Amino acid sequence: MGSKVTVVGAGFYGSTTALRLAEYDIFETVVLTDIVEGKPEGLALDMNQSRSIEGFETKVIGATTTPEGAGYEATANSDVVVITAGLPRKPGMSRMDLIGVNAGIVRNVAENIAKHSPNAVIIVVSNPLDEMTALAQLATSFPHNRVMGQAGMLDTARFTHFVAEKLGVPVKSVSTLTLGSHGDTMVPVPSHCTVAGVPLSEKLSQVEIDELVDRTRNGGAEVVALLKTGSAYYAPSAAAARMAKAVIEDSGAIMPVCAWVDGEYGISGVYLGVQAQIGRSGVVKVVETKLTETELAALTVAAEAVRAKQSDVQAL
Ligand code: LAC
Repeated sequence: MGSKVTVVGAGFYGSTTALRLAEYDIFETVVLTDIVEGKPEGLALDMNQSRSIEGFETKVIGATTTPEGAGYEATANSDVVVITAGLPRKPGMSRMDLIGVNAGIVRNVAENIAKHSPNAVIIVVSNPLDEMTALAQLATSFPHNRVMGQAGMLDTARFTHFVAEKLGVPVKSVSTLTLGSHGDTMVPVPSHCTVAGVPLSEKLSQVEIDELVDRTRNGGAEVVALLKTGSAYYAPSAAAARMAKAVIEDSGAIMPVCAWVDGEYGISGVYLGVQAQIGRSGVVKVVETKLTETELAALTVAAEAVRAKQSDVQAL
């Protein structure tokens, strides 16, 4: 049997992710769900009609679902599930401002998904990311390795773009890294950034690097402020889709993701942005990398900030 991926939530993030996954042409089925009646079916029909032009055979199925669980049969036995459900930010809001409303939505979705796809790997993208990932694991009772969040791929991609733009070099010559939370305690890691193999610190001054780090940390808010309604989705969906692809292809790729940390960096028992090897079982292992003292201290601060909030979500 071919593989199946479900994307929950047919907003811009979810629908763009579904289309990217379909265009990879590696899944038999992409299921797109939403609570807005007819929206996922309509988008699926539209995507299917693009198949002969774009040249992919993957079938997209749209399914309207209800919080009571109607419609989830369409998602049954998915290998991977991307959860995008929830509200995006409005200008001036922090991701954390969404915690109350999105916790209810993500918990409900995760419970319904667990019933129908007990062996799935779940990729959470709803905000606040680190907390919603922790909540999805609690709601599904899945092993920690099978629940992860998308953030580092996106934050790293933003950092890479800013460095490439600043230096006027191709993005493919730039390598960057961000760890920590997908929020105020994001930890861009300049010591791991290179341009054509040369350390970033030899290309830019500390002040310039700090500016790019700040812009990366506020990368989502910058887009929200411009859009005025809704949040970013092209880069976010690219990041989530690549993670789902790495899972289904059992690629073993090392990616920055939100994963359960159990002793790495001296941190335990928290979902946090780290580098991890991704494969068919989700997070195959967290990969610890050498950090400067300042970076490690920032990662520890991020872990404790996220830990405090993650224990709050249990009650939501
Ligand atoms: C962002 C949202 C999706 O960073 O978290 O754009």
